[in-house]
Amino acid sequence: MARAVAFLLLLCLCSHALASSPPTSSSAAKAADELALLSIKSSMRSTSPSSSRLASWNTSIHYCGWPGVVCSRRHPGRVAALRMGSFNLSGTISPSLANLSFLRELDLEENQLTGEIPPELGRLGRLETVNLAANALQGTLPPSLDNCTNLMVLGLRSNQLQGEIPSTIGARMKKLYILDLQQNGFSGGIPLSLAELPSMEFLFLYDNRLSGEIPTALSNLTGLMHLDLDTNMLSGAIPSSLGKLSSLTWLTVANNNLSGTIPSSIWNISSSLWGLNIQHNNFVGLIPSNAFAALPELRTITMDNNRFHGRLPTSLANVSVLWY
Ligand SMILES: *[C@@H]1O[C@H](CO)[C@@H](O)[C@H](O)[C@H]1NC(C)=O
Ligand SMILES: *[C@@H]1O[C@H](CO)[C@@H](O)[C@H](O)[C@H]1NC(C)=O
Ligand SMILES: *[C@@H]1O[C@H](CO)[C@@H](O)[C@H](O)[C@H]1NC(C)=O
Ligand SMILES: *[C@@H]1O[C@H](CO)[C@@H](O)[C@H](O)[C@H]1NC(C)=O
Ligand SMILES: *[C@@H]1O[C@H](CO)[C@@H](O)[C@H](O)[C@H]1NC(C)=O
Ligand SMILES: *[C@@H]1O[C@H](CO)[C@@H](O)[C@H](O)[C@H]1NC(C)=O
Ligand SMILES: *[C@@H]1O[C@H](CO)[C@@H](O)[C@H](O)[C@H]1NC(C)=O
Ligand SMILES: *[C@@H]1O[C@H](CO)[C@@H](O)[C@H](O)[C@H]1NC(C)=O
Repeated sequence: MARAVAFLLLLCLCSHALASSPPTSSSAAKAADELALLSIKSSMRSTSPSSSRLASWNTSIHYCGWPGVVCSRRHPGRVAALRMGSFNLSGTISPSLANLSFLRELDLEENQLTGEIPPELGRLGRLETVNLAANALQGTLPPSLDNCTNLMVLGLRSNQLQGEIPSTIGARMKKLYILDLQQNGFSGGIPLSLAELPSMEFLFLYDNRLSGEIPTALSNLTGLMHLDLDTNMLSGAIPSSLGKLSSLTWLTVANNNLSGTIPSSIWNISSSLWGLNIQHNNFVGLIPSNAFAALPELRTITMDNNRFHGRLPTSLANVSVLWY
C-alpha cells in the first residue's frame, strides 16, 4: 500500500515537472492517463517483436513521447490521440481506454486485434474519430457509442462484427459524416435512425447480411455523396425519394434481392453521379432512352443480371465501364 502511494506520488511529481505552464489539468488525471496506457499495452502483443513499437512504451521516456501517443496541446499531459495503425498488434482493446478522458482520435486500423469493442468507449465524449478497420474484432456494435456526440468518423470495415446496427446509432451523433461498416456480418434492417444523421457523406454498408427494404427516409441525408449497400440481402424497390440525394457521386445497390423498376427520379439524381451499380438484382422494366442524359459525369454503370428489356440508351458517351 505504502509503495503504491509512493509510486503514485512519484508519478505526480514527474508529470508535474514535465508539464508546460500553465498547467490546465491535475497531476492525478495525468497519472491516470499513464496507468490507462500501461493497461492498454498489457492487453496487446506485438506480432513482430523485433520491431515492436509497443516495447518503447516504458517509463524511460514520458508517455507523451511513446510511439503512437499524441498529447493535447491545450491540456498538457492529457492523451488526445492514439495513432497505432499498422503497429502489428494482436490481443484485445482494453476497456481502460475509457480512462483517457481527453481522447479525440483512436486509430488501430490494420492490426490483428480480437475480442470486442469495449462499450466503455461510450464514456469518451470528446471522441471525434474511431478507426478500428481491418482487425478481427467480434461481437456487436455497442449502443453506448451513441453517447459519443462529437464523433465524426466511425470506421469498422473488415472485422467480424455481427448483430443489428443499433437503432440508437445516429440519434445523437449529429456530426458523423463517415460511417463505414462494410465487410462485417451485420444483420437485420437498415435502422431508420441512420436517416437522422444530418452530416452524413459516406455511408458504407457493403458486404453484410442486411435485410428488409431500403428506408425511404435515407433521402433526408441531403449531403450524402457515397451510398454503398452492395452485397446484402435487401429486398423491395429502390425508393423514388432517393432521387433527392443531389450530392451523390456513387450509388451502389448491386448484389441484393431488389426488385421493381428503377424510379425515374434516379435518372435525375445528381449531375455529379460517377458510378451507378445495380447489377445482380431482380429489377425489371425498360431503361428510358434519355436515362443517362442528366448524368453527364457517369463513368461506371453495372446493370447486368437483372430482368431489364429493350435497347441500350444512346446517351452513354462518357461511360468507360459498362456491364449491361
Ligand atoms: C480507470 O478509472 C477507474 C475509475 O477512475 C479506476 O478504478 C481504474 O483503476 C482505472 N483503470 C486504469 C487501468 O487506469
Ligand atoms: C524502452 O524504450 C526505449 C525507447 O524509448 C527502448 O530503447 C528500450 O529498449 C525500451 N526498454 C525495454 C525494456 O523494452
Ligand atoms: C510489422 O511486421 C512486418 C513483418 O513482420 C515488418 O516488416 C514491419 O516492420 C512491422 N511494422 C511495425 C510498425 O512494427
Ligand atoms: C454517457 O455520457 C455521460 C456524460 O458524459 C456519462 O455520464 C455516461 O456514463 C455515459 N454513458 C455510457 C453508457 O458510457
Ligand atoms: C426525414 O425528414 C422528414 C421531413 O423533414 C421528417 O418528417 C422525417 O421525420 C425525417 N425522417 C427521419 C427518419 O429522420
Ligand atoms: C427475393 O425476393 C423475392 C420477392 O421479390 C422473394 O420471393 C425471394 O424469396 C427473395 N429471395 C431471397 C434469396 O431472399
Ligand atoms: C429528368 O427531369 C427532367 C425535368 O424534370 C425531365 O424532363 C426528364 O424526363 C427526367 N429524366 C428522366 C430520365 O426521367
Ligand atoms: C461528357 O462529359 C463532359 C465533361 O464532363 C460533358 O460536358 C458532356 O456533356 C458529357 N457527355 C455526355 C453525353 O454525357
